[in-house]
Amino acid sequence: MHGQPTVLVIFGISGDLSHRFLLPALAEIKKAGQIPPDFKVLGISRRQLKPNDIYSGETKDLAGITEFIQMDFTNSADYLKLKKHLKKLTGAKDAQLIFYFAVPPDATPAIISQLGKARLNGRGVKLLLEKPFGTDLASAKQLVEQTARCFKEDQVYRIDHYVAKEVSQNISIFLGSNVLFRKIWDKEFIDYIEIVAAESIGLEGRGNFYEKTGALRDIIQSHLLQLAALTLMEPCPDPFDFSDLPQRRFAAMQSLSAPPAAKLPATVFRAQYKGYRGEVGNSKSVTETFVALQLHSKAPRWSGVPIYLATGKKLDQKLTQIRINFKKTSASQPNTLIIRIQPREGIELDLWVKKPGYDKELQQKTLSFSFAQNFDHLPNAYEQVLVDAIRSDKSLFTSNHEVLASWKILQPILDYWQKDSGDLQFYKPGESAAKVLGEEEVWK
Ligand code: BG6
Repeated sequence: MHGQPTVLVIFGISGDLSHRFLLPALAEIKKAGQIPPDFKVLGISRRQLKPNDIYSGETKDLAGITEFIQMDFTNSADYLKLKKHLKKLTGAKDAQLIFYFAVPPDATPAIISQLGKARLNGRGVKLLLEKPFGTDLASAKQLVEQTARCFKEDQVYRIDHYVAKEVSQNISIFLGSNVLFRKIWDKEFIDYIEIVAAESIGLEGRGNFYEKTGALRDIIQSHLLQLAALTLMEPCPDPFDFSDLPQRRFAAMQSLSAPPAAKLPATVFRAQYKGYRGEVGNSKSVTETFVALQLHSKAPRWSGVPIYLATGKKLDQKLTQIRINFKKTSASQPNTLIIRIQPREGIELDLWVKKPGYDKELQQKTLSFSFAQNFDHLPNAYEQVLVDAIRSDKSLFTSNHEVLASWKILQPILDYWQKDSGDLQFYKPGESAAKVLGEEEVWK
């Protein structure tokens, strides 16, 4: 692959995120020949590191292109040392510098300011930021403003790895390129939409982070609102033109809102799995590990169509999917379209057929398309974000407008929960989402 000489600077290279997602993805795109020929990694951490501390197995191949430096992320003098080091590494004038923030969220603002102060914010510098972007509308605004004081918006790449998942990228293509769906994608034909991200895992050693965060901030604010935006956005004249995806997602998100305050008790549901309080060492914790809520869009295309979102940890299975429930008419049965984000990536359409036989009976059958049966390799979302950041393709990254719009949707719910936690329910680890919801209560 041709391309600009690039240095990927990883703050927090020894952390869990680097180890689990970033470095394996980097090794994979290197193997696939998707990094520029002159590509280097500079790993930064608080303690002195050697390649063997970081690389093993599939990531071993990165050792030859990596250097390490030790620094204190809060110390201005260390950023000048970093600058000197980077000067040596980036010989070429047109080199680009990508700063990847694989650090706990509260470390991000200080690093951004320090980079600005050290003038490590010129042309050719990009920030690759991980969620969460704030903890509510006010803090998100603050973060956006603070980042804007040091960096232009086109230098900021905010990762939401759900947007970069292969099936998520396919939503706009699938809906836009098939005339069948373009024509029926509105309130006239669609009854309601359900988007669920169920997880079987629990806290995975992130108790401190999760206790301050909860399911609404961790999954709904970013991942599920982005999937909702991808589902609801206006079809594009050319579905393959991804360049305006951020604006189209933003427009869809801007139209979304939670029900008015008086209706929130009946439309928002939160629960915590039993045993959670012991895990986080807080016997009074009201942090939700499960949430389900209902949204509406004021876009004319969608008015009156409820959009249900739900997510939870320690459920019976890992499953992320978008289910579109079409209307029943006097002459026909309702159909269902499922866009399965993960696992068993695919698309399924429930159709009604005549059951073979002498009686005139209807039966529902599924027409299904599986990615695994049709393609050898589905790139992982982190591979995609790295390739896109290197190529300066921002279509799968979240803009500042999207971040603020998503918090605006959820702020009334945060305010409602802040006032009273009496609505918190409890569920047994391993239950299904439907069971947690008491089957049909909020979730149809
Ligand atoms: C992260 C959340 O953003 O996404 C985690 O912080 C969650 O809590 C993870 O487990 C889920 O990602 P994926 O790709 O495994 O569905």
